[in-house]
Amino acid sequence: MEIVAIMGSHRNGQNTQKAIDYFISKLNIEHELFEYNVNKIKVEACLACDYCIPHQGECIIKDDMTEIYQKMETCDLLIVASPVYFSAFPSKIKALIDRTQMIYNLKDKSTIKQKKILIIGIGGAPHYPRQFQAVDNTLEWYKKTLSCDEIGFVQFSHTDELPALDNDKRLAELDAIADKINKPVVK
Ligand SMILES: Cc1cc2nc3c(=O)[nH]c(=O)nc-3n(C[C@H](O)[C@H](O)[C@H](O)COP(=O)(O)O)c2cc1C
Repeated sequence: MEIVAIMGSHRNGQNTQKAIDYFISKLNIEHELFEYNVNKIKVEACLACDYCIPHQGECIIKDDMTEIYQKMETCDLLIVASPVYFSAFPSKIKALIDRTQMIYNLKDKSTIKQKKILIIGIGGAPHYPRQFQAVDNTLEWYKKTLSCDEIGFVQFSHTDELPALDNDKRLAELDAIADKINKPVVK
């Protein structure tokens, strides 16, 4: 199974990264992991130039998205893990998501594999209404664009006081999702 994990925190090695690593450590099936840490990749903001409409499958900006496009299209499991900043996606991962407009604009989407997506939201504050609403809204079209079936949206609140790896309830949710992947239902 090919897994693409997008780590959206502007801090390395903190809650978002730890939640991804925890989930991956629970998978006991053979997999190949392609991890994209927003602090280590170069992804510029979409220019909204529409170059990708006449130039199907091509973005005018040549940066790390060239590889990420291909991996996001053909992987089996996509993990999008991100904190919320002002109740929304931080700017670096938002740039990556916006650049997916190139795939949205594809007329022939037959190259896009049907895949699973796991979303991990991290919020430093105690849970409040709509803490992850913007993440959910933004990913609605991202999921459609990349032919994703959502297998979970695990929301870690209050990480400023309760680190992700101490949040047993949310870790149990990740365990249950990993279990489903480890033991797929035989039809
Ligand atoms: C610029 C900024 C804005 C933030 N805004 C919110 C917010 O609106 N809601 C919230 O719950 N946490 C907010 N936080 C807290 C982060 O979501 C929290 O610290 C999270 O754990 C960061 O993930 P990390 O540990 O992987 O870096 C904000 C943090 C920063 C730096």
